[in-house]
Amino acid sequence: MHCLWTTAKRGSLYLRAMDEILQQIDRYKDEINAFQAGTAEEVETFRIRFLGTKGIVKNIMAEMKNVPADQRSAFGQVLNSFKQFTEERYALIKESIQGKSVSRSSGPDFTLPGDPIAIGSRHPVTLMRNRIVSIFQRLGFAVAEGPEIEDDWHNFTALNLDENHPARDMQDTFYLSTSPDWLLRTHTSNVQIREMGKGKLPVRIICPGRVYRNETVSARSHCFFHQVEGLYIDEQVSFADLKQTLYFFVQEMFGKDVKIRFRPSYFPFTEPSAEMDISCLLCHGEGCSVCKRTGWLEILGCGMVHPKVLENCGIDSQRYTGFAFGMGIERPALLKYGINDIRLFSENDLRFLNQFTSAT
Ligand code: PHE
Repeated sequence: MHCLWTTAKRGSLYLRAMDEILQQIDRYKDEINAFQAGTAEEVETFRIRFLGTKGIVKNIMAEMKNVPADQRSAFGQVLNSFKQFTEERYALIKESIQGKSVSRSSGPDFTLPGDPIAIGSRHPVTLMRNRIVSIFQRLGFAVAEGPEIEDDWHNFTALNLDENHPARDMQDTFYLSTSPDWLLRTHTSNVQIREMGKGKLPVRIICPGRVYRNETVSARSHCFFHQVEGLYIDEQVSFADLKQTLYFFVQEMFGKDVKIRFRPSYFPFTEPSAEMDISCLLCHGEGCSVCKRTGWLEILGCGMVHPKVLENCGIDSQRYTGFAFGMGIERPALLKYGINDIRLFSENDLRFLNQFTSAT
């Protein structure tokens, strides 16, 4: 097309060139009117051919600069109306194929959006477990896990609860009917015994997992629940290390203004032993129904690992000391998410679980 005008410049030939362009426009118009699209691909090919940056409309418009000044406005009108015509037709063609899911000639249209897939959410107990674990991981604790079906040695005897120890009654145990030696673990302390038994020191682990106790199921207690236990064994580990570790945990978990207190307690596997409370998250120590008017919430048991437990695992108790602590996961989860019945955690009711889609 460009070459037409180079000859036109030299005389009246340009009139012929203009005429030819007008004829060309007519032919394009016929082509456009006859065009019918079946697929998004065909529409795109149309767009590129006529309206693309190197398309027909652009090329024809570019001819304007070669038109003699006195012809320019008439010719410009023709070109502009051709441009407008092409754009309008393109819009209509595009609209006509929208909603067609299968292309005419080339099978499925992979450019269409897929059917939405319902994405699940994490269970509130998992969310709480992950929060607890990640705080201790930042202090250098590694996650360790162990079996839920356990033998008597790892759940009781190695933890300084020999056969007739009265404290066994505190943990209402489910025994497996096949053998009195096998049981469902009553705490995740079995993992501590297994890890210490590996003989690699120091030990700095956090043990999350499910535990079982033969308790009546109610809004407050269940026959299975979850715990996170921690264990740190090294030379010169002291009760001060335990306190500082737990203090850091509480501040990260519940906030900087939450207070802690330790009360002397008893566990066969730790000496001295303590229970740790935090100031009530709801009434901030004033006293409310959640903290039973005490201003405090009990959240974990802890203590210095009993020398006998270390010896049971082949660790020299003269050289090494350590601390251990254990807490339930459900209780803090109830507090954090404002849930008033522990049974909701294990009923698999989607109306309940769906509420945690965006929770952290
Ligand atoms: N194992 C104890 C329980 O299940 C918790 C605990 C762990 C206490 C470690 C002290 C030290 O109740």
